[in-house]
Amino acid sequence: MEVVIAPAEQLAVLAADAIESLVRSNPATVLGLATGSSPLKVYDELARRHEQERLSFARVRAFMLDEYVGLAADHPERYRNVIDTEIASRVDLGPGAVQGPDGLADDLPAACAAYEAAIADAGGVDLQILGIGTDGHIAFNEPGSSLASRTRIKTLTRQTRLDNARFFDDDVDRVPTHCLTQGLGTIMDARHLVLLATGPHKAEAVHQLVEGPISAMWPATVMQMHPHATVLVDDAAASRLQLGDYYRQTFESKPGWQGL
Ligand code: GLP
Repeated sequence: MEVVIAPAEQLAVLAADAIESLVRSNPATVLGLATGSSPLKVYDELARRHEQERLSFARVRAFMLDEYVGLAADHPERYRNVIDTEIASRVDLGPGAVQGPDGLADDLPAACAAYEAAIADAGGVDLQILGIGTDGHIAFNEPGSSLASRTRIKTLTRQTRLDNARFFDDDVDRVPTHCLTQGLGTIMDARHLVLLATGPHKAEAVHQLVEGPISAMWPATVMQMHPHATVLVDDAAASRLQLGDYYRQTFESKPGWQGL
C-alpha cells in the first residue's frame, strides 16, 4: 500500500495522472467511479484535460460503486445522476458507457447479480477510485460487511445517513435507508485501487485503513490485502498516521518515473 500525503489539489493531479496514463496506453480502459465529495477535484482535473489536452474517454467504460435504493430516476442525488453531472457529461464518455447498480429494479438481487456479470464481461475494472466514510466504509460496505462480499443490498448506518444528510437539505429522514453496493470482494478485484481522503473527520478512518488490524469493523482495511493500493490523503486526514513521517519521506525520495 502506498500512502501519499499532499495538498488536495496535488492529490487530484496524481490520481488524474494515473488515469490519464492508463487511458492513453489503453483507450478501452475500464474505470471504477465513486461518488461523494472526495473525487470531485479528480473529476474537475479530468474534465480540464479532456477540454484542454485532448484526453479522450470515447472508448472508456465505467462502473459505479453503489446506488441508493428507491430514489426516483430524476432525483439529483441518485448516484447515476451525480456521476453524469460530475464527470460523464463533462467528457466524451459514450452513451451507455457508464453503468451502475439499478436501485429501482423490481428484483434487487437479480440486479446485483447482473451488475457483477457486467463488470466481469467488461474484463474487470482497471482503476477504481474510492472515498472513505468516517466509519471506514468504502462504497457502501458498512462496518460488519463481509470482506469477501459481492454486489448486494445493504442497510445504511445512522452515521452514514447523518454524513450524507448534507446532500438532502440537511434532513436525515430524506436519506434513503438502503443501497446497492459493490462488495468488498468486488472492489478488491479491481487491478488498482486509488482512495482519496481529505479533512480531519477522515483521520481516524485513514489511520485504521492504513495501520489498523484488518477487520470487518473497519471495512476499508481489506485494502491492506490488495497488491496495488494507493492512499492519497491531505495533512488533516493523515494527522493520526503513526508512520506519517515515513510516508512523506518515501514519497519525497520516490523516482520520478515510477507513477502511482
Ligand atoms: C458515501 C459513498 C462512498 C463515499 C463516502 C464518503 O457513503 N457511498 O463511496 O466514499 O460517501 O463521501 P465523501 O467523499 O463525500 O466524504
